[in-house]
Amino acid sequence: MILVTGATGQLGKTVIHQLLKNAPADNIAALVRDETKAADLKDLGINIRVGHYDDSVLLEQAMQGVERVLLIAGTNEDRRVQQHQNVVNAAKKVGVQGIAYTSRTLKDASNTANKLMLGHFQTEDAIKDSGLSHAIFRNVLYMDTISNFVGEKVLETGISLPAGQGQVAFALRSDMGEAIANALLAGAWNQTIYKLTGSKAYSFEDVAAALTKLSNREVKYTPADPAAFAAKMLERGVPEIVAGRVVGFMTDIKNGQEDEISPDLEQLLGRKPATLEQGLKMLFKL
Ligand SMILES: NC(=O)c1ccc[n+]([C@@H]2O[C@H](COP(=O)([O-])OP(=O)(O)OC[C@H]3O[C@@H](n4cnc5c(N)ncnc54)[C@H](OP(=O)(O)O)[C@@H]3O)[C@@H](O)[C@H]2O)c1
Repeated sequence: MILVTGATGQLGKTVIHQLLKNAPADNIAALVRDETKAADLKDLGINIRVGHYDDSVLLEQAMQGVERVLLIAGTNEDRRVQQHQNVVNAAKKVGVQGIAYTSRTLKDASNTANKLMLGHFQTEDAIKDSGLSHAIFRNVLYMDTISNFVGEKVLETGISLPAGQGQVAFALRSDMGEAIANALLAGAWNQTIYKLTGSKAYSFEDVAAALTKLSNREVKYTPADPAAFAAKMLERGVPEIVAGRVVGFMTDIKNGQEDEISPDLEQLLGRKPATLEQGLKMLFKL
């Protein structure tokens, strides 16, 4: 049985739905912290295990009868390294055969401007140190996050971000979830690192051009100065920590941290991942 954590989240649900296409529901378990959010999974016949990353006892209980665990990264950036360690420790204690983790692709993690990324690589190390069979999925920045960065009114406002002409090999979260499920079912537990990226890297200039084409409205990209951009966010009432994080993401993009292209996603999907234009058409309903 495979236990998928973060199962009430967007990536977790995609993974489970893809697993279900090729595996019986009683071979799949979902770790959820709020059972009421998992009614749909329960209806599908998925084993629901209640627990959370802070509670080692519940994690060990949730892993009873489980052979493999997919650990989907948690959302609490301050606590998640310890939380992920708790999941690894529980997996080891219970004796699961393998653990997989959703990490991040970065060209040079030691030079990231976005310190919250480092927790992913600390988790990778914890998994390697555990001695468990494992698979690491290094996911590129979700294409789905573009709307968070450019804003919902992008067709009116255009795009102004401190990302220079940096590029991102954007891929849809749904493509990554499908690929992860395929890899898990194909037995990808042999200390493998997958880099899940799109087949092409795109700048925000490309994002603006694709939105222009899809909407028939001219959308311009203007690179912004990081300090001025951060000051504007603060003026709008964005908390300092969030503003710093956004600038960190953009600085990494500007520095080429997100532009690596790997064939892994396409290979695991058995088809080309969505292009920027296909993704934006769906995400912006154009
Ligand atoms: N590559 C990227 O661009 C990118 C972008 C955003 C996020 N991420 C990372 O990828 C992960 C998955 O993405 P997503 O879009 O599926 O996020 P999401 O929709 O926010 O789902 C996160 C899942 O993790 C669960 N979770 C969080 N903290 C937990 C804890 N302490 N114990 C147990 N479960 C916990 C949440 O449970 P609840 O439903 O109870 O909240 C939810 O099921 C995120 O958590 C984040 O680390 C990557």
